[in-house]
Amino acid sequence: MACKPRIVHTVAAVLLALTVSPAYAAGDKEAGKEKAIPCQICHGKGGRSTNPLYPVLAGQHAQYIVKQLKAFQSGTRKDPIMNGMAAPLSEQDMEDLGSFFQSNRNP
Ligand code: HEC
Repeated sequence: MACKPRIVHTVAAVLLALTVSPAYAAGDKEAGKEKAIPCQICHGKGGRSTNPLYPVLAGQHAQYIVKQLKAFQSGTRKDPIMNGMAAPLSEQDMEDLGSFFQSNRNP
């Protein structure tokens, strides 16, 4: 009986840890690779744009990419193309895309 509260406490701590973890899962770069296919038309393969009209995304920090995509989606950052591109993305999509582009550091 004496150790029962401790078990309850441990279970509670584990549940709390699960609940407090970020609302989204960490980005998956393999999933991001698939999701980045439509982005390549402008941003280049793997985000290595060679056209000055389109920013290079390869090697960019994942959290920077997520932040910009959220800004495009909310309309805080305005660009007629990117506002449309970001519109259908979920938070997980953004994390995956960020993880993929960040991983493409080397040419
Ligand atoms: C039709 C062309 C086009 C497509 C397709 C496109 N983008 Fe863009 N993207 C742009 C342009 C143009 C800009 C620069 C916008 C500006 O000047 O603010 C941009 C900017 C960005 C930025 C900000 C970069 C920075 O340095 O601040 C991110 C992040 C981004 N795009 C991600 C994506 C992702 C992810 C996809 C695919 C889901 C995508 N883009 C598809 C044209 C495109």
